[in-house]
Amino acid sequence: MSDLPTILTGIRSNENPTLGNYFGAIKPLIDMAQTRSDGYRVNIFVPDLHSFTTPINHGDLYEKTLSAIRLFVAAGLPIDDPNVAMYRQSYISAHSELTWILDCFTGFGEMRRMTQFKEKSTDKDLSKFSSSDAISKNETQRVAQELSRPDSVGLFNYPVLMAADILLYNASYIPVGDDQTQHLEFARDISERMNNRFGKLFVVPESVKKQHEFFGNEHGLRIMDLANPTKKMSKSDSTGKGVIFLDDAPAIAAKKVMSAETDTVGKIHFDREKQPGISNLLEILSLLRDRPIEETIAEFEGQTRYGDFKKIVAGEVENFLDNLQGELAAVDNESMMAHLEKSEAEMNKVAKQTLRTVQQAVGLRSRDI
Ligand code: TRP
Repeated sequence: MSDLPTILTGIRSNENPTLGNYFGAIKPLIDMAQTRSDGYRVNIFVPDLHSFTTPINHGDLYEKTLSAIRLFVAAGLPIDDPNVAMYRQSYISAHSELTWILDCFTGFGEMRRMTQFKEKSTDKDLSKFSSSDAISKNETQRVAQELSRPDSVGLFNYPVLMAADILLYNASYIPVGDDQTQHLEFARDISERMNNRFGKLFVVPESVKKQHEFFGNEHGLRIMDLANPTKKMSKSDSTGKGVIFLDDAPAIAAKKVMSAETDTVGKIHFDREKQPGISNLLEILSLLRDRPIEETIAEFEGQTRYGDFKKIVAGEVENFLDNLQGELAAVDNESMMAHLEKSEAEMNKVAKQTLRTVQQAVGLRSRDI
């Protein structure tokens, strides 16, 4: 295995991805893999073990994990690049094994303070079930059962599994959103703690500040809801009118753009406060065309016919979805599975090596080998 520093991230699968997810998370990650892979190892995995720390529909977890991977492949993840790895967490048993060991060096209070735990443990609502789970009558019982499940120990020690995800591969750079920085801090804490106690076992991930310096603005773009442009575009929107899903029929998505909320100013101008709808459309258009926002603004600034402008955005959205859906349909499943399994075999080796060192340090394995 190469000695390159490692960039690593886990992409949750149990979502119905939107245009917001595409430009906020998927595309930046793919761009990152493409641009960084000559100087870094890039590990991208689906944290399938993490996906049921809160209730989900277990009937489609397996397929959803693969769909997440398929989407990455369709969107251009360079899977033939030897420095890019793509894998499923549960296929590498060292994740679970290291978690247990780290659990025993993790304080109860430390986990209890985690804000994500505090939030998720009180948040028992149906929106956790994706829209594909449309709750039919005979589903009601299953859902009720899942929702009455008490808060799990899995949710409680979610950050420990996440630390194992990172530490097994000696990753330095982890592009995560603000909601995950506390977990990243924990991964740093536990790695330092273990290193202090047992000698150098792990590479300590870089600080949050260094992560921000490293990744700059490569991630964190925000697309707003079309019907309510002061709110982030997200699948939990109840009507779905302002949300473009990646599997929307392109013509339907175009209609959503045509009925996007705008304003009564009557002149195109980029101002997120006063003209959030128009600004959002300008943003979407520049992302779709992959051009700087300034250029898009310059093109439309001052124009008064919102309808014409919307038509252009709608056309681009339609094209984009047509393309992406075409790419998705063209993903060869056999070849995708072969890549996945090859990557998993390689990553099993890397992870096992780290695990072995830890097992030796804590006295589970002989130090002689
Ligand atoms: N917790 C991350 C999220 O919710 C997903 C994740 C799991 C992850 N393990 C990770 C991200 C390791 C980075 C590194 O988005």
